[in-house]
Amino acid sequence: MLSKQGSDGGKRTSLHGHWSSRMAFILAVTGSAVGLGNIWKFPYIAGQNGGGAFVLVYLLCVVLIGMPVMMSEILIGRRGRRNPIATMELLGKEEGSSGNWKWVGGIGVVAGIFILSYYSVVAGWVLAYVPKSMSGVFAGATSEQVSAIFENFTGSWWQVGLAHTVFMGLTIFVVARGVERGLEQAVRFMVPALLFLMLVLLGYSINSGSFGEGVEFLFTPKWEDLTWGSVLAALGQAFFTLSIGMGAVMAYGAYLPEETSITGASGAVVIADTIIAILAGLVIFPLVFANGLSPGEGAGLVFETLPLAFGGMAGGVVFSSVFFVLLAFAAWTSALGLVEPAVAWLVEHHNRTRAQAAVMIGGLIWFVGLGSVLSFNVLSELRFLVRVDTDGDGVKDAYGTIFNNVDFLTSNIMLPLGGLLITVFAGWVMCRNSTADELGGAGTTYRIWRVLARFLAPLGILIVLINAVMS
Ligand code: PHE
Repeated sequence: MLSKQGSDGGKRTSLHGHWSSRMAFILAVTGSAVGLGNIWKFPYIAGQNGGGAFVLVYLLCVVLIGMPVMMSEILIGRRGRRNPIATMELLGKEEGSSGNWKWVGGIGVVAGIFILSYYSVVAGWVLAYVPKSMSGVFAGATSEQVSAIFENFTGSWWQVGLAHTVFMGLTIFVVARGVERGLEQAVRFMVPALLFLMLVLLGYSINSGSFGEGVEFLFTPKWEDLTWGSVLAALGQAFFTLSIGMGAVMAYGAYLPEETSITGASGAVVIADTIIAILAGLVIFPLVFANGLSPGEGAGLVFETLPLAFGGMAGGVVFSSVFFVLLAFAAWTSALGLVEPAVAWLVEHHNRTRAQAAVMIGGLIWFVGLGSVLSFNVLSELRFLVRVDTDGDGVKDAYGTIFNNVDFLTSNIMLPLGGLLITVFAGWVMCRNSTADELGGAGTTYRIWRVLARFLAPLGILIVLINAVMS
């Protein structure tokens, strides 16, 4: 996928080569964006934050903040053509500011490590659901049985730990071998196949009897339920699902050929990612209501509704196995984006081979991830800092586990903060000529981007962060 012949009009080239085509880049960024964030996290966060109003705020965040931040990140990546830390340092000096901007890249590297530490645990659940699906345990199961299967599984530290270990092993293996053709092929096949299975599920959920109720929950805003906490959750989710604010997209942008339109590529990724998340919501909430589950159920939501749906349909064993395999692929292509900044940095700065870097970073992430593994069993009573809703009634009634805290601090604090600094850098520190050059000239799109990147996105992020932290 990365070819060394990309033309750069005489500019910097990346050490690691360039994407072979515009499509290869879009596929890689889509592979990073589409993952557990869309199918597992979006419905569960929307459910815990009251549905409709949350979804509208989330969509506004995606368009008005997510899109300009993504464009900023890609343009910075392509201009610097190094790992995010080195790129921020280089451009900071080049644009007459300071090399200290490298710390923004640093926050991103750390955020990626922490996100993958719990992401891998959930991806492990997905892996474990493949053999469970194949064994037919979900066929004809009731919602109590499906919930019991989930709770028995996550309650066992060694089963969750084993699944986490397998997923990290797979991730290290691919990162070590280099992100060559495999990724492109996987994404080319996975995204359409996932979309197809989501449509099959949508058909089932339309017939479940509670489709109207699900749609109403998802799209009718109950503004009175909207708190600054849920606005922050929407903002954090927008960053998480688009893979922005931590340098993943910046690292991928470093391999982007000069002639590719950044606006076009970002638009394509944002649309694909949003469609898959909304589809997931449309599948899951009707099933939640049809089966007497609560939308605020939390992290297990998808692992309870989807097996129920599969268990009740003809060919469910096959569909369900294929679905969890595809979801595992989606998680895996996202995991690659999460470690790429750290690995690229170790390779460029510390003269490590890709394989050594992958094992070192992957081992560290595996270790940090043990905290999240134990959050569902041995350490489930170790609770602090962030408040969570434990019984699905919409009231945050307890402190969160290690898992909840890592999730909250990375998605809701580190990513928005990283995104804020990245857009401020692109909008205020980089001179007009540099950004216009990357974004294809100073036309209308450029002007819209610049207003959003200079004013709306940074102010929006600041207001949400300040209010949510104060309240
Ligand atoms: N966007 C991915 C998802 O939705 C998660 C991710 C975040 C991947 C940040 C890379 C960087 O599952």
